[in-house]
Amino acid sequence: MNPTATDPYDPVARWIHWGMALMLFALVGLGFYATSLTYYDPLYHRSVFWHRSLGLLVFALAVIRLGWRWRHPPPPLPADTPNWEHQAALWTHRLLYALMFLLPITGYLISTADGRGVTLFGWFEVPALLEPDKERATRVGQLHLGAAILFSGLVAMHVAAALKHHFINRDGILRRMWP
Ligand code: HEM
Repeated sequence: MNPTATDPYDPVARWIHWGMALMLFALVGLGFYATSLTYYDPLYHRSVFWHRSLGLLVFALAVIRLGWRWRHPPPPLPADTPNWEHQAALWTHRLLYALMFLLPITGYLISTADGRGVTLFGWFEVPALLEPDKERATRVGQLHLGAAILFSGLVAMHVAAALKHHFINRDGILRRMWP
């Protein structure tokens, strides 16, 4: 049965949402932190190790999340939501989903540009699927950075909208996503 506007998101969707939100905050932080260090700084390699591992995990979770959403449709927005707000939420969520894939994929293409695979916390390695190409790291790096900046802006908007609904509209939108 399809959910109504007063239903919460299902528990799996809620836990994946908050788990991924934490990982993505850490990923963006680690990414910008790593670029502020030199290549010879041991903290640079440690941050990149965690950034890559979390990136692989986010990619896997994004696949599971979309699959789950397909089988478990989210509750609709309340019927009195203005059309502009409906469209803003729809397109912000679509863009966030697109970036949850674009960021790890471009990250993988940068990391494997030297022909080496990417390790998931040292447990196993995802091999490099394309030929080595050092130039690719620079080209795709621009896209990865641009996508990360866009992502940060969208998340800021998304959080502001959630807080507006909670504290100003008081319409239970934040509560239906609460774990
Ligand atoms: C403090 C941080 C965050 C808050 C307070 C928050 C809040 C919310 C709320 C209340 C909803 C439900 C909206 C509705 O009922 O229609 C939602 C949905 C969503 N959030 Fe967040 N969120 C946060 C962080 C993030 C982050 C970092 C991402 C990045 C991926 C994200 C991606 C999404 C997406 C894609 C949806 C739509 C879910 C769906 O319909 O499948 N959120 N968020």
